[in-house]
Amino acid sequence: MQRTFAVIKPDAVAAGHQGNIIAAIQESGLKVVALKTLHLTEAQAKGFYHVHAERPFFGDLVKFMTEGPIVAMVLEGENGIKRWRDLMGPTNAAEAPADTLRGRFGTNIERNATHGSDAVETAAFEIGYFFNGLELAGL
Ligand code: CMP
Repeated sequence: MQRTFAVIKPDAVAAGHQGNIIAAIQESGLKVVALKTLHLTEAQAKGFYHVHAERPFFGDLVKFMTEGPIVAMVLEGENGIKRWRDLMGPTNAAEAPADTLRGRFGTNIERNATHGSDAVETAAFEIGYFFNGLELAGL
């Protein structure tokens, strides 16, 4: 069993797609083991995406991620990191296949509906950034 961190981004929440996205996660066999809705501050978004701090798109990314509420989740399943990334599709929603979540609900490389951890170490950081031990206990 492997845990990964997932976000439904402000564009998809504002458009009311969170129900469809959570349904797709459950239909795929991944289990939602923790979930919360929150509206990130600028500092919180910068901390979450700190690995991208030097990238030219960092400012726009932080602005987008703070424009409205997000849904943060911990997903669990065999090979969970890759399965969630496959379900989302490629980062650039404009090029994502129509049967992926980014293809269905995203717009472009920035407004791409969802986020998922890209590795075991990233998943550990991202889960810990959003959820404390008590929120994950017993699951
Ligand atoms: P995400 O999986 O959340 O991880 C970092 C995000 O940065 C990524 O999704 C994209 O939304 C965004 N991103 C990556 N590359 C670019 C880019 N070239 N221009 C704008 N945003 C980008």
